[in-house]
Amino acid sequence: MNVPALDVHLDDDEISRSLRSDVITGLTAEKKWLPPKWFYDARGSELFEQITELREYYPTRAERQILTDRAAEIARHTRARSLLELGSGYSTKTRLLLDALTASGVLETFVPMDVSPTALAAAADRITADYPGLRVHNVVGDLTRHLKHLPVGGDRLVAFLGGTIGNLLPAERAAFLAEVRAVLEPGEHLLLGTDLVKSPSVVVPAYDDAQGVTAAFNRNVLRVLNNSLDADFDLDGFTHVALWDAEQEWIEMRLRARWPMRVTIPGADLVVDFAAGEEVRTEVSAKFSRSGVQRELTEAGFTLDHWWTDQDGLFAVSLAKAIPLS
Ligand code: SAH
Ligand code: AVI
Repeated sequence: MNVPALDVHLDDDEISRSLRSDVITGLTAEKKWLPPKWFYDARGSELFEQITELREYYPTRAERQILTDRAAEIARHTRARSLLELGSGYSTKTRLLLDALTASGVLETFVPMDVSPTALAAAADRITADYPGLRVHNVVGDLTRHLKHLPVGGDRLVAFLGGTIGNLLPAERAAFLAEVRAVLEPGEHLLLGTDLVKSPSVVVPAYDDAQGVTAAFNRNVLRVLNNSLDADFDLDGFTHVALWDAEQEWIEMRLRARWPMRVTIPGADLVVDFAAGEEVRTEVSAKFSRSGVQRELTEAGFTLDHWWTDQDGLFAVSLAKAIPLS
């Protein structure tokens, strides 16, 4: 079996430094918040996989349907020799792309990038076993910081699936898309999955499922702080909240303190007080329209070549081409 190459831009020290800095910024803010990338330790990555199988969580099923229908077209259109996947996780749906791109005979390299080394390693084991001729090059990194280190060359297709772009705040999203464009050559492609605006009666249950898997995923960020920074959060002291913000067109996940608490976080030299009912925002998950996606892609230096939705119009996959920067 061929052994995957590995680049690590986030080693344990860098993760601790970066987590510490985010915790100090977020938990000392007037409205407390934490960035969603810290959900994904080994347990968080597994919980996300469980979320993708929930009846209420439609995005994964809808995106899988689109990729099943369109993978061959994506392979023909891009003729990619290198597939770079950002926030790849277990790369489950990506196999549809790998199948089509290897069948077309041109794909040479697969470069998954994720903050979760365990998800990357598990995915790489399976992918190297199932695609023997494919070079796999794992990158442990942060897609908001380390895109410039991605390998160059090879008619690249960057895939950013799952709607994870919606977990970036609008300014982060614009900076991220500009950075993706900056690392690509004109003519190379971006395949982008976006969840679409729809009734809160469909969206809210997807983020507040009956079995409580999303609640466990949300609370997992406190476990990460307990494990990595020696904090003493009582996970039972926080209620999972999922709220639709109609103005921003995003779901906000929060953790609400059930009673007054003082939490010590030695790894960040921090003591944080929570009033009863006080909330920490742990994630936004923005929902999009075609015009919004097209505008953001155009502003970043892409043309939208294809826009595909599932049969129920829940989710969209866009195929965009990098155009010369003026
Ligand atoms: N692409 C998969 C997984 C989506 S879950 C799918 O569509 O099902 C989001 C993934 O992005 C997780 O694997 C998480 O570890 C990763 N992730 C979140 N924030 C990240 C960041 N800033 N940099 C790199 N990876 C990130
Ligand atoms: C990874 N990301 C696209 C998921 C989402 O739907 O925003 C994360 C998630 N949060 C709660 N459930 C799933």
